[in-house]
Amino acid sequence: MNILTLILSYLIGSISFALIVGKVFYKKDIRNFGSGNLGATNTYRVLGIKAGVIVAILDILKGTISCFLPLLLSASVNPVICGLLAIVGHIFPVFARFKGGKAVATAAGVFLFLAPWGVLVGFVVFVLTLVFTKYVSLSSMLASLALFCYSLLFEDKMIIGITLLICVAIIILHRQNIKRILNGTENRIVERY
Ligand code: G3P
Repeated sequence: MNILTLILSYLIGSISFALIVGKVFYKKDIRNFGSGNLGATNTYRVLGIKAGVIVAILDILKGTISCFLPLLLSASVNPVICGLLAIVGHIFPVFARFKGGKAVATAAGVFLFLAPWGVLVGFVVFVLTLVFTKYVSLSSMLASLALFCYSLLFEDKMIIGITLLICVAIIILHRQNIKRILNGTENRIVERY
């Protein structure tokens, strides 16, 4: 049951809702449009606010549900491992040739389980950065940094280590966005396709 729980966590993370919503309801593969990223931001950019919000919620749920799997399946696996596997699945989805999203929403779902107040802090930083810069990518990176700072102050060593890992992963996954921000070609939230 333990191995099954781990595999299921990765498989849940691998479900690319951006791809599914785009293909099933809009007949569009969003990998061919916008930033090409399989995430809620690019879904919004290409398909509109409704699709973007739905994908964001489902991507968040993937992370949270994976953390509850050990409880639901009576498995003796650390929920943190399940959450991390869901994030790995989101970034490297078996169902989408291992090229997925940038893990922000799924990581938020995992941290809703691990450190909900940290998510609130990250969310406030996300919204403020978005209001002032209109860059979702920068907002995502600063939100993950804020979550890390929060964990340094209020969480134990394990959570600090996990937030550092996720924060570094999120920044690496946004390296193309960083280049675009620096040369002034990054999309702003107000720009749609
Ligand atoms: O969560 C992803 C977001 O921060 C950036 O997405 O499509 O602009 O690369 P995108």
